[in-house]
Amino acid sequence: MEGGGPAVRRRSRSASARKRSRDRAQSRSACSPPARKRPSSGAGEEPQPAPSSPEYNNDSEEDMFGDYDSFSGNDSLLAQVDNMEQECIQSIDLTSCTKNMEDKATVEPAFGYLQLQNAKSKELIFSAAGNITGFRTEEENHLRITSEQENRTLEPGDCFLDDLPSSQLLCFEEMNKTSVDSRKSSEWQHTCLTLESLQQRKNLIYSLPTSGGKTLVAEILILQELLCRQKDVLMVLPYVAIVQEKVWALSSFGIELGFLVEEYAGSKGRFPPIKRRMKKSLYIATIEKGHSLVNSLIETGRIGDLGLVVVDELHMLGEGSRGATLEMILAKILYTSKTTQIIGMSATLNNVGDLQQFLQAEYYTNNFRPVELKEYVKIQDSIYEVDNKAENGLTFSRLLNFKYSSNLQKMDPDHLIALVTEVIPNYSCLVFCPTKKNCENVAEMICKYLNKEYRNHRENEKQDLIKDLKNIGKGSLCPVLKRTIPFGIAYHHSGLTSDERKRIEEAYSAGVLCLLTCTSTLAAGVNLPARRVILRAPYVATEFLKKNQYKQMIGRAGRAGIDSAGESILIVQEKDKHLVRDLVNSPLENCYSNLFLEFTKGIQSLLLSLVGLKIARNPEEIYHFMCGTLFGVQQQFLSKEKSLSAITREALGCLIEKGLLKGKMTSEKEQKSQSNLEITQLGQATYKGSIDLAYCDALYRDLKKGLEGLVLESCLHLLYLTTPYDMTYHCRPDWMIYFRQFSQLNSVEQKVAAIVGVPESFITKKASGQAIKKDVDNCVINRLYLSFVLYALLKETNIWNVSEKFNMSRGYVQNLLNSAASFSSCMLHFCEELEEFWVYKALLTELTKRLTYCVKAELIPLMEVAGVLESRAKQLYDSGYKTLAHLANADPETLVKMIEHLSRHQARQIVSSAKMLLREKAEALQEEVEELLKVPTDTPEGLLTTLP
Ligand SMILES: Nc1ncnc2c1ncn2[C@@H]1O[C@H](COP(=O)(O)OP(=O)(O)OP(=O)(O)O)[C@@H](O)[C@H]1O
Ligand SMILES: [Mg+2]
Repeated sequence: MEGGGPAVRRRSRSASARKRSRDRAQSRSACSPPARKRPSSGAGEEPQPAPSSPEYNNDSEEDMFGDYDSFSGNDSLLAQVDNMEQECIQSIDLTSCTKNMEDKATVEPAFGYLQLQNAKSKELIFSAAGNITGFRTEEENHLRITSEQENRTLEPGDCFLDDLPSSQLLCFEEMNKTSVDSRKSSEWQHTCLTLESLQQRKNLIYSLPTSGGKTLVAEILILQELLCRQKDVLMVLPYVAIVQEKVWALSSFGIELGFLVEEYAGSKGRFPPIKRRMKKSLYIATIEKGHSLVNSLIETGRIGDLGLVVVDELHMLGEGSRGATLEMILAKILYTSKTTQIIGMSATLNNVGDLQQFLQAEYYTNNFRPVELKEYVKIQDSIYEVDNKAENGLTFSRLLNFKYSSNLQKMDPDHLIALVTEVIPNYSCLVFCPTKKNCENVAEMICKYLNKEYRNHRENEKQDLIKDLKNIGKGSLCPVLKRTIPFGIAYHHSGLTSDERKRIEEAYSAGVLCLLTCTSTLAAGVNLPARRVILRAPYVATEFLKKNQYKQMIGRAGRAGIDSAGESILIVQEKDKHLVRDLVNSPLENCYSNLFLEFTKGIQSLLLSLVGLKIARNPEEIYHFMCGTLFGVQQQFLSKEKSLSAITREALGCLIEKGLLKGKMTSEKEQKSQSNLEITQLGQATYKGSIDLAYCDALYRDLKKGLEGLVLESCLHLLYLTTPYDMTYHCRPDWMIYFRQFSQLNSVEQKVAAIVGVPESFITKKASGQAIKKDVDNCVINRLYLSFVLYALLKETNIWNVSEKFNMSRGYVQNLLNSAASFSSCMLHFCEELEEFWVYKALLTELTKRLTYCVKAELIPLMEVAGVLESRAKQLYDSGYKTLAHLANADPETLVKMIEHLSRHQARQIVSSAKMLLREKAEALQEEVEELLKVPTDTPEGLLTTLP
């Protein structure tokens, strides 16, 4: 295992060091190194088109993936936690648990859990309700945070730790002093948490290998901020599914300790958030929603309420438009609130100096990993260990032991079967594949040649899984999964619906499935157990693997608390040998600003919002702001030809030209005397709706045209308007399907096609393969086609049927639906700013709701609870849990008995999330009542009395 002392590094970095790293990166073509094209793929491998870029306020396509960062829903780990809890319960002196209950949080702000580090002997103090009240040393009692609940006597056997979030593991481990690895894990965590810089509330970046325990440290800091400093906290996570998992995991803690957990993901989240007078809020948000939240706090003058912002997976700063958005969030906070502390972490950072300069942050790093990860590379039948000390980075380890028939050799030239059967079914294995199709092919190929005995392993549970998936598919089951699941194998990629992915993940975590073939999207922040991770090829789609991607993928092996060992095997063809040597030996890629590259979604959109939010009012102030961005830090390297000032002025010029800003751009020298810039109404609508500047004109035109003759007999016309523009680029209509769908519309609905500009004759001719002279806009054609898909979805509420009808994967159909829901809500905000579009407000409010919950209306209240997807909501509803209040007041034990395949842990999390949501809603109403009844301080009577 790698050791290595912690190192706190100050911001300064020698100029030569920075130059070196820049030179290196530059030689790889800076921000987006040219893709090394993949040579022709092997049998069954179909290169996929690049995924469409995320859009608008949508939380991006990746949001769709069921990535889970916390341990909730992870049964094998949960089983271990259960054991720990049992031991804890037995070892805790129950009388000490009920002591110190009277004291309300009289905590010194800089307390930190980690004063305990210096204490000679420590003891955790629990309140009767089960939350931590502090660590008691021989001499002192430091932290006393009691729950709102009445003190109650703890019964032996009460699982008072059941609902605690992962942060508590640290405490379990303190009590149990279990494994050396755990101890080491908490050692670095203690060191990090007690850093002087943290206590001085300086910003901090910390970096440790995957599974090092980074997220846990962040959770502790968050609790400290909420409870000790009594400030709101924003936690930014990369994917919707991870946000939901965190909301699940932290809700119970919020209930016990009296803070609110608010979800900002997908279509959830209130702007601005409700101002709570009594309680503090933890906003858990995706990057996109986090940005809207920060904007709304700045707009309402409340940004100072945010005491802490935590960004998990900080390297996302370098990833396309999402990176640009993350940069905007951080730059705006840095500029507008000096009291908000920023903490970012990642396992894959290289040019930390740039990031430190941007965030004005200290840096902590340590190369500790609780579970040793051995890296191997397989070339033909030889396996080499990655070894930094060896001359070319690899040392021979062993020959792969297998006996293949010539037929099998042909079918499985990479010896995947030999590799996986070394671990499954007793241990689990992830096989990363370059494409979605390849995932399915590999899963099927492996099953075809597996010994039939594999079928016997946990046979009944696998049958249950098949039954569940069938229910999720409303009677349909993917034929590939039907063949592979009996062997304990499944594929996992974005072609599955989120419900299916979630169920498959659960089954894999519980060991019912022992092997998943998956795409790279399962690589980020996931806590799925894998003894062995196999990379089927060093490619993602057709692009050669980047070091960061490689590290994230192999990091899934040997997760702390789940496995005691982990190894990765990268399968390499002879011809790629030299590339792979570079890959394993090279440093991680640098993280570069995307503000400039993502022009309309980056710098232009930023400048528009700066003026809109009155953060900066003239070019000089805007330039000043830009100097503080990551782009400002890296500008000389990223854009040699133009100065930052020139780039800023050019972007402002574009905004004025587009009619989004008003003001005159004078020459650079005259800048100082220049008058203020103003945002136009269209500009205000664009920034408020988070509309990509590339489409704001088109959107305005389309809505304006709609005012002249919107067909409202059905929602088809409205759906056309809410179909995201960017989704049209990768759409390839099947003309026969187009024609069939068109023919099934009634005459009024068919008019919609003509109004938007797709004549019937065009569709007919295309379907019959005739040549067409008339030029019809491709974007309009594709948009109409996609709106047919959405229309079918709203009518049928069955993704399976619709995906079959349109010959699209169900994951894609679901993604389209989510994107349309997001865009619809963005359009609503757009229309709210433009008087002429008042009529759309009511229409879009209703449509957004229908798109967001494309399910039977009765399931909607249940699906508002974080992480409750359609199939679970249906189960709950059918069992009599029909409202939020039913869920919030449910007994988890009864839930477990009544709902099939619901673990106790999941039941508890559903109940606490429902409780949290109910409480949050009720308190919002109470706040509203109080606000309404408040006596104004400036009444004329009041003013009279103050007159002399
Ligand atoms: N001190 C600890 N004692 C026991 N288990 C721990 C400790 N710290 C973290 N863990 C557990 O280790 C696992 C990995 O931790 P965590 O998710 O925080 O790692 P990470 O560094 O954020 O990984 P990644 O980079 O992949 O996101 C989790 O299951 C977590 O609950
Ligand atoms: Mg993490």
